[in-house]
Amino acid sequence: MSDFLELAGRRYSCRNFSDKPVEREKLEKCVEAARLAPSGCNAQPWKFVVVVDPKLVSEVAKTTQQLGINDYLSKAKAFLVVLEDHAKLMPRIASLYDSQVFAKGDLGGATLSFCLEAESLGLGTCMAGMFDRAKLSELLDLPLDQRYFLVVAVGYPAREREEARPKLRKPFNEIVRFI
Ligand SMILES: Cc1cc2nc3c(=O)[nH]c(=O)nc-3n(C[C@H](O)[C@H](O)[C@H](O)COP(=O)(O)O)c2cc1C
Repeated sequence: MSDFLELAGRRYSCRNFSDKPVEREKLEKCVEAARLAPSGCNAQPWKFVVVVDPKLVSEVAKTTQQLGINDYLSKAKAFLVVLEDHAKLMPRIASLYDSQVFAKGDLGGATLSFCLEAESLGLGTCMAGMFDRAKLSELLDLPLDQRYFLVVAVGYPAREREEARPKLRKPFNEIVRFI
């Protein structure tokens, strides 16, 4: 198995963080991995807010809990907030497609790069797609119409390796066709 495949298989959504603080240099490396991600027309339609202030971290966790879920994110030590920016496409492409047509894919790639780098550094991550966007804008001092992609909780896993959770994925042959 390649090192990368091993890393991709090892990453999981961590829902049990320890009290150990996360080093800033490690967070910087994770964001650097996100920054290096590819994007349509190299538009890089993203901004990243790394929340490390403990009070703000706990407030951001609350924004993910509005449906009575994600209580475990209260133990996160940091959050990455992934913002969707306007994507400036090449003029010929912009004449045919909406500016944001590639953006979600771009943001997904960048977010996963962040999580994979975190995994390689021994950190746990959990993406959260449901959060109170208006409240988050207020907390981060961003406009109410700010476009968000995801927030990612970060921390050290409470256990060396969370109880081995099998990867629940559709079978290879169901989703892949070589022709
Ligand atoms: C867009 C998106 C939103 C997600 N939102 C949440 C969430 O709000 N809470 C949560 O616990 N996990 C969330 N997850 C994690 C998924 O449940 C998880 O990735 C999936 O079950 C596969 O498990 P794994 O990441 O451990 O391999 C989210 C993942 C993605 C990609």
